[in-house]
Amino acid sequence: MKITPVRGTHDFFGQQVIKYRTIQDLISHYSVIYNFEEIITPIFESTELFKKPLGENSDVVLKEMYTFKDKNEDFLTLRPEYTTPMIRSAISNNLLEKLPKKLYGIGPMFRRERPQKGRYRQFNQINFEILGTHDISADIDLIILANNFLKNLLPEKKINLFINSLGDKNTITNFSIALGNYFKQNKKKLTEESQSKIVLNPIRILDSKDPTDIEINLNAPQISDFYSNEAKEKFSNIQKILKDMSVDFSINMNLVRGLDYYCHTVFEFKTSDLGSQDTLIGGGRYDGLTKLLGGPDIPGVGWAGGIERLIMLMDDIKPLQKNIHLIIINESFKEYGLKVANQLRQKNISIHFDYKYNLKKSLSHANQLGARFAIIIGEEEVEKNLCTLKDLNKNIQEKKTIENIIKDLS
Ligand code: HAM
Repeated sequence: MKITPVRGTHDFFGQQVIKYRTIQDLISHYSVIYNFEEIITPIFESTELFKKPLGENSDVVLKEMYTFKDKNEDFLTLRPEYTTPMIRSAISNNLLEKLPKKLYGIGPMFRRERPQKGRYRQFNQINFEILGTHDISADIDLIILANNFLKNLLPEKKINLFINSLGDKNTITNFSIALGNYFKQNKKKLTEESQSKIVLNPIRILDSKDPTDIEINLNAPQISDFYSNEAKEKFSNIQKILKDMSVDFSINMNLVRGLDYYCHTVFEFKTSDLGSQDTLIGGGRYDGLTKLLGGPDIPGVGWAGGIERLIMLMDDIKPLQKNIHLIIINESFKEYGLKVANQLRQKNISIHFDYKYNLKKSLSHANQLGARFAIIIGEEEVEKNLCTLKDLNKNIQEKKTIENIIKDLS
């Protein structure tokens, strides 16, 4: 029986693991610089947590959630995103007394989408969230954090930042009605999928990547016609500050995001190197969300980045070399060798033990892996309680006590 991976899932190994860890390290570095606390939540939650906040008519809720009935009849869902679980956790654990609360998290998410390059059914996200401030400085801080992180991780790649404002709740309601009317008039020209969204969720039609829909979207009402004065001012201040801080961006009036909880600022960082799954980081403001989840009426803003997509853009990283090889030339000296390895490892010296018990094979293995030193144990070494330290670059060797080897290698 050969069991294959579940469709849309994948394993991380070799370079992918090295790259995953590099991203994790960089993120924990930025979390310190920008003062975010890490939070780790369960990978499954009550289905209710996601249904309404993400949008009962959103693709994620309608088609993509991994939902199952537990034995006690509760509906549970593998988290499709991290913002709602992080807020749920902040509410459950009374973390919202001192505001703003700045949280970050990394981990797997689950969406039953059609798998393709850069799109998986289990994928990993980085999430940064700021809860409890209306100040546009929080929006800017988060955009700049994402920008700095991407520049640091992918210095050679061209990445474009797109921003938009969805205005306040009235903006979205009125815009949605106007869009619905416009699409009704143009129904026959839309794709079947977009036609099905006209009544329940016309804003989502703006997301369509189909050329016929894109054509119709060109003449659709613009969200900017529905901004309140406050929303207009917020958005123009954000643009001004980003320009002053030399952050390159473009405005994309059709940027509406795939989840329902957004208002005001929304943004995406995209690349042209990945095909259709081109968004690396997406986020925005979600001012009513914490209240909707049963918490205080506080605003919020954040973003999430897809780790798999970032890994696909990274150059290979040279792995740490397995520098010091332990070579035991005969199996009968195994016990002495294990003791030596243990002494060295307890002093934090990394030892590669290849279990070959053959000088020639072990030396060739050490060469293949680019080792710098070999510690060789044969009959004389065991008798005299010594080891031979061989410098593989200089091709010189000397018998030494273990204490002296530790001194040399530390
Ligand atoms: P999202 O746009 O659904 O937003 O996902 C954010 C990022 O996760 C995407 O830009 C992409 O890089 C990655 N991603 C999403 N789906 C997949 C997939 N099937 N396979 C691989 N990568 C994927 C959110 O999840 C929001 N919670 C972001 C947010 C945080 N908004 C405010 N705070």
